[in-house]
Amino acid sequence: MATLARTADLPLEVLDIGNPHLWTDYTNVLPYFAQLRAAGPVHYCPESIYGPYWSVVTHQHIMEVEGRPDIFSSSWDKGGITIADRPEDRLEEPELPMFIAMDRPQHTGQRRTVSPAFTPAEMARQNQDIRRRTTELLDSLPEGETFDWVDKVSIELTTGMLAILFDFPWEDRRLLTKWSDAAVDFESIEDPEKNKARWEILFEMAGYFTNLWAERANKEPRPDLISMMIHSDATKNMTPQEYMGNLVLLIVGGNDTTRNTMTGSAMVQSLYPENWSKMMADPSLISNGVSELIRWQTPLAHMRRTALVDSEVAGRTIRAGEKLIMWYLSANRDESIFPDGNVWNPLRENARRHLSFGFGIHRCVGARLAELQLGILLEEMQKRKMRVEVMGPPTRVYSSFVHGYRSLPVVMRRG
Ligand code: HEM
Repeated sequence: MATLARTADLPLEVLDIGNPHLWTDYTNVLPYFAQLRAAGPVHYCPESIYGPYWSVVTHQHIMEVEGRPDIFSSSWDKGGITIADRPEDRLEEPELPMFIAMDRPQHTGQRRTVSPAFTPAEMARQNQDIRRRTTELLDSLPEGETFDWVDKVSIELTTGMLAILFDFPWEDRRLLTKWSDAAVDFESIEDPEKNKARWEILFEMAGYFTNLWAERANKEPRPDLISMMIHSDATKNMTPQEYMGNLVLLIVGGNDTTRNTMTGSAMVQSLYPENWSKMMADPSLISNGVSELIRWQTPLAHMRRTALVDSEVAGRTIRAGEKLIMWYLSANRDESIFPDGNVWNPLRENARRHLSFGFGIHRCVGARLAELQLGILLEEMQKRKMRVEVMGPPTRVYSSFVHGYRSLPVVMRRG
């Protein structure tokens, strides 16, 4: 497996940790973050493909920024939630406003609309179905031959979950994967031709969902997310763009993140076999093991905020209009909170303090659902005495936002 040794030295003043090229190779990323943390909580990068930005790299200071949403905005019209700005020459492209990229008060109403789909009671209702789908999938996996864990397990389970949440036609569920991948395809966003093709895919999604919307608008309310949005006061008068934006949010939120954590579960079995064996020997560790997995993977490496007024973070002056990147991946390796943080350890006492779900008013709505799906996957693997061996290096996503994998060759064994 890849070591964490740094392969190149760059002075911190010119280090552009957001450059996606660093993230496909990856050997550099974690050591650079350690260097940044040692040098201070907040750093300025004057020049990058995404323009100038501030990096916030410590646990304490990310919580501080997230705790001041009236100063540090998430709003799409200020720049949104990722490091990439909307390029000047593409301002005519359709905008997809979603409530993760809105400030109060608009954010509050729209968030409230979908929250009922994620209550503990709803989770209890979903439990049996998730377990059934997980066990069927695990029992269908080939034994002793190489297959791609991302495609066969992570994508299949998370896409199936979304199809259920939306009550989406089951036979078309892989469209959800295609759309989710297109929405966060940072590589295509950089190339005008590829970006055009990317928008074609998003328009296909828009057409499909518009039909589903029309179909359900005249029916009685049901507990699926589309019906909930149609019948709620806060969302029923949304513009088509807002409607589409929020669907993309739920698809990407629910798909990529849990998918990449599931792939992380295969990675840690190979990287930390002894720690994995401890959890398999004692299923009461699974719940904490899941939190630790979400910490270790940190499937969204960052969220971005834009300063609305001049302010200070850790003694540095941030000017109105400047962007701050809150590196969750770094906060989750912060030595002052998580000693030996590069290691996945299901016995870590404070694993739940991770910031992978963010913090404050935007903290992930789907956190419980993600934990439920991951917990069931690990429990069912434990019952089956399944073990996954990684057969080669993963192919990583070209992005400093989605921290994940395109493919991971594995062999599965039992006993
Ligand atoms: C391991 C899995 C997941 C991770 C790591 C994750 C991470 C995040 C993060 C970092 C945020 C933004 C927090 C902030 O700005 O402070 C967020 C928000 C959100 N997530 Fe998740 N997420 C996961 C799973 C899910 C699932 C399964 C769903 C739904 C099906 C979901 C739906 C959302 C939504 C709707 C928001 C917006 C909340 C708001 O702005 O108020 N997420 N998530």
